[in-house]
Amino acid sequence: MKEDLINLKNQAIAQVTECKDLEELEQTRIDLFGRSGKFTLSSKEIANIPIDEKKQYGITLNEVKQTLENLLSEKKNELNNSARVWFDPTIPAKKLTLGKLHMVTHAINEIAEVFEKLGFQRMKYPEVEFDYFAFGALNFPENHPARDDWETFFVNAPESKKYGPMLLTPHTSSGQIREMLGNKPPIRMVNIAKCYRRQSDISHVAMFHQFEGLVVDKNINITNLKGTLDYFAKTFFGPDRTTRIRPYHFQFTEPSFEVDISCNVCSGKSCKLCKEGWVEIGGAGMVHPNVLSNCGVDPKVYSGFAFGWGVERVSMMKSGLSVPDIRLLYSSDLRVLRQL
Ligand code: FA5
Repeated sequence: MKEDLINLKNQAIAQVTECKDLEELEQTRIDLFGRSGKFTLSSKEIANIPIDEKKQYGITLNEVKQTLENLLSEKKNELNNSARVWFDPTIPAKKLTLGKLHMVTHAINEIAEVFEKLGFQRMKYPEVEFDYFAFGALNFPENHPARDDWETFFVNAPESKKYGPMLLTPHTSSGQIREMLGNKPPIRMVNIAKCYRRQSDISHVAMFHQFEGLVVDKNINITNLKGTLDYFAKTFFGPDRTTRIRPYHFQFTEPSFEVDISCNVCSGKSCKLCKEGWVEIGGAGMVHPNVLSNCGVDPKVYSGFAFGWGVERVSMMKSGLSVPDIRLLYSSDLRVLRQL
C-alpha cells in the first residue's frame, strides 16, 4: 500500500514537471487533488488499511501531499514568470538618467589642470588645523578678529602648547606654511581644499572651496604673479580675458592685491554686472618676509607670490549662470543641481 503511494508520487512529479502552461498544470492538480483525484482516492484508502500499518500510511500520505503541493506551487511560479518575460524589441528603450559631476568638482578638476600645465604641483593639507598654521605663522596678530570664534570654527580638541587650538581651516593659506616648512624652494604648488567660516548669506556659505597658489624661488617678482594670473584667466575663462591687480591688505602678503578679471558681458566697457569693466575675483600678493622667516626661508635670498580665490565664485563666473544664492550649490536640491 505504501508502495502505491510512492508510485503515485513519482508519476505525479513527472506529470507536473512536464506541464507546459498554467492550464495544463491546473488540470494536473485536479487529476491529483480533485474530488475523484488520484491522491484524494488514495487518502480515502486509509479506512481499509490494517490497524498496525495505519500510522505509517498516514505519515507517507502527508509526505506525498506536502511534496506534491510544493511542486505544484513552484511550477505555478515558474510558469507565471516565464509568461511575463517576453520581450518586444520594437519598444523604444527607457532613457537612462546619468549622473554628472557637481559644478564645483568639475571646476576643481579644471583649475588643477590649468596649473599643472604651468608646473604647479597639487598638494593636500589638513582641513582640521592648528591655529598657528592658519593664523600665527601667517603674521596674524593675536587679537585679529578672524581668530574669534564668531568668525572661525574652533574644534573641541586638546590645545597644542606649541601650535594653539585646533580649528577648521578658514582659508587655504595654511597650506603655504605647511608647504614651506616641508619643502625647500623652489616651490610651485596649488592647494585646492575646503574652507570653513561662520558666514551664511546669498554670497557666503559656511563650507566652501578655495584654490591657493604659492611660488617661492630666487628673483620672483610681481610680474611673475601677474603673468600667472593672466595665464589662468585666459586658459580658464577664455583667450580674450585679462586681469588687473589693485592694492589691498592681507596679513601674510606685502604688497597685497585684490585681483579683478575683465568682464565678459560688456568686454570691459562697463555694465551692471561689473565695476567699470572689471569683476572682483580674489586676493594675491608677494609672500610677506615674516612668513618666509617663520618657515625657515631666508627673505634676503628668496621671494615668492601667493594667491587665493574661491572655487564657487570662479565656477559661477565661468558658467555665466546667475545663481541667486551661493548656498543653493550645497542644498542637494536636484531641481537646482540638474541646471548647473
Ligand atoms: C583669503 O582667504 C586669502 N587667504 C586669499 C589670499 C591668498 C590672499 C594668498 C593673498 C594671498 P578672502 O577672505 O578674500 O581671502 O577669500 C578669498 C575668496 O574666497 C573670496 O574672494 C571668495 O571668492 C571666497 N570666499 C571667502 N569666504 C567665502 C564664503 N563664506 N563662501 C564662499 N566663498 C567665500
